[in-house]
Amino acid sequence: MDKSSYKIGFVGLGVMGLNLARNTASHNFAVLGWDPQEEQRRLAKEHHIPCADSIQDMVDQLESPRKILLMVPAGNPVDQVIQSIKPFLEAGDIIMDGGNSFFKDTNRRSQLLAADDIHFMGLGISGGHKGALEGPAIMVGGNKEAYAEIQLMLEALAASYEGTPCIDYMGKDSAGHYVKMIHNGIEYGLMQILAEAYDLLVHLEGYTYKNCADLFQEWNKGRLQGYLVTITADILAKSTGKNPILDEIFDVAGQKGTGSWAAQNALELGVPVPGIDAAIHMRQISGYWKERQALSDSLDGNMPARQESGIGVEMVEKAVYSAMLLVFIQGFHQLQVASKDYGYSYSLSQVAKTWRNGCIINAQMVRFLAETLESATTHPLLVPAISDQLELAIEGLRFVVSLATRNGLYLPGMSANLGYWDAFSRAKLPTNLIQAQRDYFGGHGYQTSADSPLTSYPWEDNETSS
Ligand code: 6PG
Repeated sequence: MDKSSYKIGFVGLGVMGLNLARNTASHNFAVLGWDPQEEQRRLAKEHHIPCADSIQDMVDQLESPRKILLMVPAGNPVDQVIQSIKPFLEAGDIIMDGGNSFFKDTNRRSQLLAADDIHFMGLGISGGHKGALEGPAIMVGGNKEAYAEIQLMLEALAASYEGTPCIDYMGKDSAGHYVKMIHNGIEYGLMQILAEAYDLLVHLEGYTYKNCADLFQEWNKGRLQGYLVTITADILAKSTGKNPILDEIFDVAGQKGTGSWAAQNALELGVPVPGIDAAIHMRQISGYWKERQALSDSLDGNMPARQESGIGVEMVEKAVYSAMLLVFIQGFHQLQVASKDYGYSYSLSQVAKTWRNGCIINAQMVRFLAETLESATTHPLLVPAISDQLELAIEGLRFVVSLATRNGLYLPGMSANLGYWDAFSRAKLPTNLIQAQRDYFGGHGYQTSADSPLTSYPWEDNETSS
C-alpha cells in the first residue's frame, strides 16, 4: 500500500481486537494493526492483517481524517494509549474506544481530546469474540459528524437483522458506552434467571442436565429464543467424556464489573433494577465459597427436603419468560431516565433494534420490545402490549417462586423480578409507615397526597393516642 492509504488502524490485537480487524478487512477495508506484543503482531500477520512497526508508523500510514480503533482493556491502558498516540494526530482525526470502558471515563477522554479537535468515540461492542469476527452489535457514542466518517465501515462489520445493521448512533460522548453498560446489566439479570431455571429443574423436578438441555432447546423455538438460551442448552449437553462439564466447573461466578456499574448507576439515578441487583449479589455470594461450605457442613449439607413435586414445565417457562421480560423492562427504564439526565439522544426502540442480533442478549424478546417500545414515552411497564404479556405469564413466576421457596430453594432473580411486578402493581404500598417513622424520629414530615404540602404529627403527645 502506498503511504497514508490505510482506512483504519487497530491498536490492540488480542482476541477481540484481532477478530474485529479480520472482520473489517473481510469487508475490503484496508486495516493496519499495532500491538506492543510481538506475538500478537505475528498472529495478526498469520491472519493477513498487516502491522505497523510502531504506533507512530501506524498513524503515519492512515488516510486522513485518521480513524483508529482501540481494543485495549478498560481503565488506564486506554489513557496510556491515548497519551502515546495523541502527539501524532491532527485536528479532525477520530479515536474510537471499543472496550468496555466506564461511561464517565469516556466523557473525560472525549473532553480532553476535544481541546485539540480530536474526536473520541465510545463504541459499545457486544457479541464476544465470535461476534467480533462474524458481526457484533455496536452502540455508538460521540460526535455525530465524526460518526458519519466511520458509519459505512462500522455498518459493514456489524451484525444485521432482516437487512438492517445492528448498529446505531446513541448520542454524544459516552452514550454508546452507557448503553453497553445497561446491556451488560440486563445480561447479568438474564444469566441469573437461566441459572435458577436449571437449578430448580434439577433440584425440584429431578431433571438431568440432558433433560434440561432438551427443554432449553425446545424453549429456543418459541418466545424464549435467544443467544443465551442457545448457549445454555449447549452447555447443559456438554460433557468431559465421563461427567457433565457443569459438574467440573467451580461455582464462583466472576464479573469484570460492567454489570455492577449498571446497578451503581441505577442507584444514582433512583431507578429500581432489582433483577440486576439480585444477579450481582448472587455472583458476590458465590465468591464466599469457604463460608458457604462451612455453613452447609454445619447444616449437614442438606437442602430442606422437597415436600412437593410437579411444578410443570409450562409454569417454569412462564416464570422464565416473565422474569426475563421484567429484567429488560428495568434496563429500559434506566435507559429512559439516563437519556433525560445525561442528554443522550437514543430512543428505547432504537436501542432495542440495535440489540436484535449480534449481541449477547439478542433474543425474540428484544425484537418484541423493538416493536412495542416504538413510541413509548411512559414507563415500559405501562405499555399495554408489555403489561398484557406479563399479566398472562406472572402466574408462572409466582407459582415457581412460591413452590421453590417452600422447598428451600432460593431463586433471588426470579423472586426480585416478581417483587418488582407486585410492587408496581399496587396503588398503595406500606411505605406510608416509613414516612410516619421518619417523621416520628426525624421530624421529616409527610404528605397526605402526591401534591399536598409536608405536614407533621404530634407523635409524643399522649392526648393523641386512640
Ligand atoms: C458482550 C459481553 C462482554 C462481557 C465480558 C465480561 O456484550 O460481549 O457483555 O462484553 O462484558 O464477557 O463479562 P463479565 O462482566 O460477566 O465478566
